[in-house]
This record gives sequence, C-alpha cells and structure tokens, in this order.
Amino acid sequence: MRVTLFGASGLLGEDLVRELKAESLTALSSKDADLRDRGRVREAVCDSRPEWVILSAAYTDVDGCESNRERAFAVNCEGAVNVAEAAREAGSRVLFLSTDYVFDGSKRSPYEITDPRNPTSVYGKSKARAEERLLEILPEVCIARTSWLFGHGGKCFPATILKLAAARPEISVVNDQRGSPTFTRDLASALVRLCRNDARGIVHVTSSGECTWYEFAVEIVRASGLAAVVKPVSTAEFPRPARRPAYSVLSPDSLHAYKIQMPDWKDALRRYLEDRSAVSAART
Ligand SMILES: NC(=O)c1ccc[n+]([C@@H]2O[C@H](COP(=O)([O-])OP(=O)(O)OC[C@H]3O[C@@H](n4cnc5c(N)ncnc54)[C@H](OP(=O)(O)O)[C@@H]3O)[C@@H](O)[C@H]2O)c1
Repeated sequence: MRVTLFGASGLLGEDLVRELKAESLTALSSKDADLRDRGRVREAVCDSRPEWVILSAAYTDVDGCESNRERAFAVNCEGAVNVAEAAREAGSRVLFLSTDYVFDGSKRSPYEITDPRNPTSVYGKSKARAEERLLEILPEVCIARTSWLFGHGGKCFPATILKLAAARPEISVVNDQRGSPTFTRDLASALVRLCRNDARGIVHVTSSGECTWYEFAVEIVRASGLAAVVKPVSTAEFPRPARRPAYSVLSPDSLHAYKIQMPDWKDALRRYLEDRSAVSAART
C-alpha cells in the first residue's frame, strides 16, 4: 500500500509509522508540510500519489484551542480541506482522524455514527466542521473518530499519572467524565485494517470498555504498584478552559461492520505499562 501520513511525529503518528513500516510510506511532520500551506500540502500529496492519505496531524491542545480559535480552525479545518482537495486531485483516498469531542456528552448510552454533532469546545467545533467539509469534498472519505489516546509517542494521561503518583502521596482526578481510553498501538493497527478494507464514512474506533478519568488513574496506579491514593473530584472543582463532554463513549458497531474488534482498555493499559517497564529496564 502507498500511504502518505500527516502527523507522523505525533502520539498516534509514531505507531502508524511502525504499523506501516512494510508499506511504501511518506511520513510527514509539520516541518515537512504545514497543513495551512495549501501549496506545500498539494505538492506533498501529488508528488507521492498515495492510495491512502492518513490525516492524523492536528492542533490537539484542547484548552489551547479555546484562546487560539483562529489557529484551531486554520489547522484542524482549513488544513484538512487542503489535504482533501489535494487528495481529490491525486486520486487518493483519505482517512481523517476525528474525536469524541464532536459530541456534547448529554447521552448516557454509546454514541452512534448517526448521532448529531454538537461540540462544546473550539477543538471539537474545528473537528466537527472539518468532518462536514471533508464529506462534501470527498464523499468516500473515511472519518475515524477516536478518544482518550495514550501511547509511547508523546505526552499522555498514564505517563502524567505515573509521574504524579511517584512524587505525591495523593492525587486528585475528575470522576464525572466518562469515555474509552485508547492505546495508539491498537488504534494504528485498526486504522491500517480499515484502509485495507476500503472503509468509507464515519467509523468509531476506541478501545472497548469505558471508565472515568478517575477510574483510569486508579487502574494505572494499581497496575504499576504505586502507593499513591487517587481521590475522585468533580470537573467543577477542576475548571479548565475547554468544556469537555461528561459522557463520550462511542459505539463500536461501525467498526464491527468491518469485522475489526478492539481490545479492552484495561488489557491495552497492561500492555502499555509492560512496554514502559521493558524500555526503562533496557535503559538501566
Ligand atoms: N490525543 C487524543 O486523546 C485524541 C483523541 C481523539 C482524537 N484525536 C485525534 O487523533 C489525531 C492524532 O492525535 P495525537 O494525539 O497523535 O496528536 P499529537 O500527538 O498532538 O500530534 C500532532 C501531530 O500533528 C502535527 N501537526 C500539528 N500542527 C500541524 C500543522 N499545522 N501542520 C502539519 N502538521 C501539524 C504534529 O507535527 P509536529 O510534531 O511537527 O508539530 C504532530 O505530528 C489528531 O487528529 C487528533 O485530533 C486525538
């Protein structure tokens, strides 16, 4: 498969590069091609003429987007449009990474792909608008919505919790936002399978199972044998610039239609922690 990947230097990008190592891959960071540079994006896609463009690149600082609305839309929406238009010209398919934050979180059962978007944050709005624009430009686009990523390719929640729990006797974590933590390694594998399966339309791709950030933190601390106590707190006690959905579990039915199953988040976390210990053991 010929693939051009935008966002190769990110958390998910690192695992996509690994997953695609046997393929003909053009891996790009923002230094190689800024999504806002229409000409450069066009050149990168038209020169590589891939079967698939995977668009993992984004401005992902959810709180930062609140005070940088212009940048959020320029990168996440107009940037995605630049990629879609270039892909249309090159005759390439596009797989676009989107987010559970396109939903407002008012449901209490898993979000289906047919549920209406109603984002509450600038980041969510920029991604939701990008979804709409891409579906107009490329009706066969594949939009993979995912959530709560963790992995070895960059900063993530388990790494932060491990650091805090090693330094403090008690840590406080919000217990009123529910979602599905997703290991980038499992996600990368599922995304490549979606490309091979010629997937189109919206597909929800997260680990199976669900938890709150507090429950996720408790499991991280327990599984790594740390002594810190994790205290549940409410979002109101920890105000952040961006409003996040209280519930954003995504139904896996759209993924199961491609006969792809994702592992449970606890199993994914166990494998993530095993890898971390193996890496630090190899370093000592
Ligand atoms: N992280 C999550 O929990 C989460 C949840 C749901 C959905 N998603 C979506 O999943 C995808 C991957 O997320 P991630 O966590 O792997 O992201 P990430 O670690 O923040 O990586 C972002 C990537 O995008 C690139 N990038 C940023 N601005 C760019 C620009 N203007 N032009 C070109 N490239 C640019 C970065 O390149 P440089 O390294 O060169 O800056 C980097 O490779 C994103 O589309 C995100 O919206 C993420």
